[in-house]
Amino acid sequence: MSRSVSKKAAPLPVLQVCAEIFPLLKTGGLADVAGALPSAVRAQGVDMRVLLPGFAPILAGMVSAREVARLPARGDVPAARLLYGRLPACECDAYVIDAPALYLREGGPYADARQQPFADNHLRFARLGWAAAEIANGVDSQWVPRVVHAHDWHAGLVPTCMRQLAVAARSVFTIHNLAYQGLFPGETFQELGLPAACFAMDGLEFYGQVSFMKAALQDADRITTVSPRYAREIQTAEQGMGLDGLLRSRATRLSGILNGVDTAVWNPARDAAIAAPYTAQDLRGKAVCKAALQAELGLQAAPERLLLTVVSRLTEQKGLPLLQVNLPKLLQRGVQIAMLGSGDAELEQAFTAIAKAHPLQVAVRLGYDEPLAHRLIAGADVILVPSLFEPCGLTQLYGLAYGTLPLVRHVGGLADTVVDCSLEALQEHTASGFVFHDFSPEAMDAALRRAELLYGQPTFWQQLQRTGMAQRHDWEAAATRYAGLYRDCWTAAK
Ligand code: ADP
Ligand code: GLC
Repeated sequence: MSRSVSKKAAPLPVLQVCAEIFPLLKTGGLADVAGALPSAVRAQGVDMRVLLPGFAPILAGMVSAREVARLPARGDVPAARLLYGRLPACECDAYVIDAPALYLREGGPYADARQQPFADNHLRFARLGWAAAEIANGVDSQWVPRVVHAHDWHAGLVPTCMRQLAVAARSVFTIHNLAYQGLFPGETFQELGLPAACFAMDGLEFYGQVSFMKAALQDADRITTVSPRYAREIQTAEQGMGLDGLLRSRATRLSGILNGVDTAVWNPARDAAIAAPYTAQDLRGKAVCKAALQAELGLQAAPERLLLTVVSRLTEQKGLPLLQVNLPKLLQRGVQIAMLGSGDAELEQAFTAIAKAHPLQVAVRLGYDEPLAHRLIAGADVILVPSLFEPCGLTQLYGLAYGTLPLVRHVGGLADTVVDCSLEALQEHTASGFVFHDFSPEAMDAALRRAELLYGQPTFWQQLQRTGMAQRHDWEAAATRYAGLYRDCWTAAK
């Protein structure tokens, strides 16, 4: 129904504000979402442009760039040029803030090469917030958004800056991860160009500090997060990271919209990065992918061995110490493990040491490698996501699409997307993976043993693979919800 409505109605101009976007710049799932959303909502009658900081890979990916405005300084937030052009790799048009002193540096978008956050991050990302408000205020007379959709703390000041400029546009803010809040010392507040009244309990003040996340949760017209279950979890003291009270008070404005999978990028039938294509109807290519992966990683060439994979940031969130504890038992039971990740130095060292000691059974690759992530997810039998918390999680969705059964903890988006292989679920053909509840090595090991047992039952295994592969996690459902939300909040404003 929304399709026929969207065909008749004029496209709604929406500005998406984010710090990273696939395939130009990515540190995590946020980039995947930001990269997929513009095309997905276009099909729902939304004219989406993107605003990004002028990081080197973004500038390099821009064509036909022209200056559309000079953005004034705000407090200690420096003036900048606003460029407009096309990002062909992302199939969207974009505004980019050209401010070399802020954005052209060694290291990543948020931290230097030694993983130390940049000392002026409050100014770098306040620049993003002010630029969005300026665009909503009509700095480009050719195109004025009705709704501004900001993602995560980096864009947390967007709704607050929009209120300061009293723009007509409405704001939507998406929480991808409440654990990263954009907290800065209280003294930095005076540099942001905001009036003193904003540094208050009903503003962006958080126990004496400045919180970009809290600013957004206070001031956004609508708040979304990336799964229905995480939307409930963050309203509890256990998972609310100190913001649960505020989130409860805004519950009528808060909703969970499950992320989609970009099927142009993650589809085993058309994935140029993998050894052989395959489909749910014909899984022979998957066996080829497994053999190629075992050969590539120097693992024993053994089709009968259960091959587990991990593709992940190595942070506390991802629960990998549970795997670490279980590894000796897994090795005794003859299981293989292939891991790709980077982050926590202790975890990196621990897993690398195990791989050195057991090269035929364990392979660990550190760093960020997109094509290898595809080969791992296609070649493995099971993908492990034992997270402590998980707002949505994308790799379990990639696993489902690739017939690589997810083994996950029952939390956030993982709980919303994977059904454990209980006998009832097997009978009902709803089982799609292995789910454990307690955050304990024992609970994870029980799920691992279920996976090992079921792997010896090919009929059931293939049933789970087909169930997962038949599920549709493409962007259409999410895009329909976002487009509806944009329309609702714009209509409510009029
Ligand atoms: P998060 O955003 O919390 O890291 P998600 O599961 O939502 O978790 O998204 C992670 C994304 O990053 C996925 O696209 C995954 O394939 C990718 N990824 C994570 N680590 C690596 C890595 N070391 N190399 C390549 N891709 C990675
Ligand atoms: C965050 C979350 C992850 C989610 C991703 C995209 O990084 O940790 O669970 O899938 O954002 O929304």
